[in-house]
Amino acid sequence: MTILVTGATGTVGRLIVDELARNGHQVRALTRDPAKADLPEGVEVVAGDLAEPGSLTAAFDGVEAVHLINFAGDDYAPLKTGEQLVELAAKAGVRKVTVLGGRADGPLEQALAASELEWTLLEPVEFMSNTLQWWAQTIKAEGVIREPFGGRLSAVVHERDIAAVAATVLTSDGHAGKTYTLTGPRAITTTEKVRILSEAVGQEIRFVELSEDEARAKWLADGMGAETIEFLIGALGDTPEVGYTVVPTVEQVTGRAPRSFAQWATEHAVAFKR
Ligand SMILES: NC(=O)c1ccc[n+]([C@@H]2O[C@H](COP(=O)([O-])OP(=O)(O)OC[C@H]3O[C@@H](n4cnc5c(N)ncnc54)[C@H](OP(=O)(O)O)[C@@H]3O)[C@@H](O)[C@H]2O)c1
Repeated sequence: MTILVTGATGTVGRLIVDELARNGHQVRALTRDPAKADLPEGVEVVAGDLAEPGSLTAAFDGVEAVHLINFAGDDYAPLKTGEQLVELAAKAGVRKVTVLGGRADGPLEQALAASELEWTLLEPVEFMSNTLQWWAQTIKAEGVIREPFGGRLSAVVHERDIAAVAATVLTSDGHAGKTYTLTGPRAITTTEKVRILSEAVGQEIRFVELSEDEARAKWLADGMGAETIEFLIGALGDTPEVGYTVVPTVEQVTGRAPRSFAQWATEHAVAFKR
């Protein structure tokens, strides 16, 4: 059977493609720009834009299972074409659908709920790889992280575990109509994260805790907009319970314990080394 993976060039999508291909499944990867996709050999790469369902007919042809993202565009705007995508999927004979970051009330999720498809929503908490995006450059250059809320707890999840759950759901039964919150094995604080990274890298990384006002001033100087700054202060200063509550879903679905942040840090240490 052919499995279509959308968001296939993204952090999680690439790993879903990997996981499925490694397990011998036939994978078709969707991207807006195949020339830049850089996906493994043996993976069929197709061009298409989720915001333009007319561009997706070939992508859905002969597909039995689909992994979907629920946004379109580089600003992560909610996907408005959910209904058309669900129609396309149903017409193509798709049975199973996973959605990354699925919120039950989004247009895509609503269309799936009203359909006959076997959908599963995957709701990971904070990705471990955010560290790479947010911290790697500064740590490499200065060996220091300046942030507020050093004691903030997060049950960070390894992207490979999100991918493993998606791959399992797309290729086995018993997951229809479920919403899976996905976490790592332990909730850790920001200061612990820095310590674990420091150990994995083998170099000292200092954590300088900023007050909220110091953080606002720093982020403003870094060029961040006022709205984003207030969003971050709110999100980091008052993480919802779901963000730091460990759940057993990864192991229940995949049969494997979730990977730790220490493991993630070891795998990515080189990106933080001075
Ligand atoms: N980071 C976190 O801590 C976190 C936590 C929970 C949930 N999430 C959720 O995870 C999702 C982001 O996943 P990610 O980090 O793996 O993504 P990502 O690395 O930012 O990659 C974005 C992907 O979306 C594709 N894309 C964007 N617009 C498209 C369009 N119009 N048509 C087709 N493809 C399009 C891109 O493909 P091309 O450029 O190749 O076309 C790319 O593969 C979001 O829904 C976010 O809410 C993130």
